[in-house]
Amino acid sequence: MRTPIIAGNWKLHMNPDQTTEFVNAVKDKLPDPNKVESLICAPAVDLDALRKAAKGSNLHIGAENAYFENEGAFTGETSPMVLKQMGMDYCIVGHSERRGYFHETDEDVNKKAKALFANGLKPIICCGESLEKREANKQEEWVVGQIKAALKGLSAEQVSELVLAYEPIWAIGTGKTASSDQAEEMCKTIRNTVKDLYNDETAENVRIQYGGSVKPANVKELMSKPDIDGGLVGGASLKPDSYLALVNYQ
Ligand code: G3P
Repeated sequence: MRTPIIAGNWKLHMNPDQTTEFVNAVKDKLPDPNKVESLICAPAVDLDALRKAAKGSNLHIGAENAYFENEGAFTGETSPMVLKQMGMDYCIVGHSERRGYFHETDEDVNKKAKALFANGLKPIICCGESLEKREANKQEEWVVGQIKAALKGLSAEQVSELVLAYEPIWAIGTGKTASSDQAEEMCKTIRNTVKDLYNDETAENVRIQYGGSVKPANVKELMSKPDIDGGLVGGASLKPDSYLALVNYQ
């Protein structure tokens, strides 16, 4: 059985003081981690505050991005090794904002996923099509291509441990959620892709999140779908009450 995972992706919001305040407000009200895993992925500058505040609680913690090298002349980058030293469990990779604004390629995403595993972190690998691709009915081909490229060279054991996040770009921050049937359809396609690339067991193990305007009002419906194992949530993860409503959807 896959444990559902609800993750906040704070993007470029929150400072260290707000981070501490947020975690203090939620940490005693989180669900049993065996029933639902609660995760916050925060900007690199907030991670120390996140770790300190979350210590001893059921909150899992993660970063939003990392480089694929641990050290060197890479101005402005974040080391996966140091993220691990700082106590991070997860790191998001290949968010559409990273791919779009910062020109991350499928190859970068694959290198980053490998570097995270090499340093003991679990990647949350994002995929998703633009409105243009969906209108041309090319969404499946596009997402399957992203998944194949991202997983290249990863073992079945690694794929069982990572998280895949389907985030249609047209549904991000727009208030326009994919219908639960549209989300399920693509999450099922992603699981079948893992099955084709690996085997039944790996496809059964891998957790697949949906992201794009997830909020307390639609989380239950989305989570009722058989191939949706979690949510990757932007806007609705920024306020303690809303975050608590999401993680306590059961
Ligand atoms: O990674 C989360 C995301 O991109 C969705 O953002 O604000 O639509 O929940 P939002």
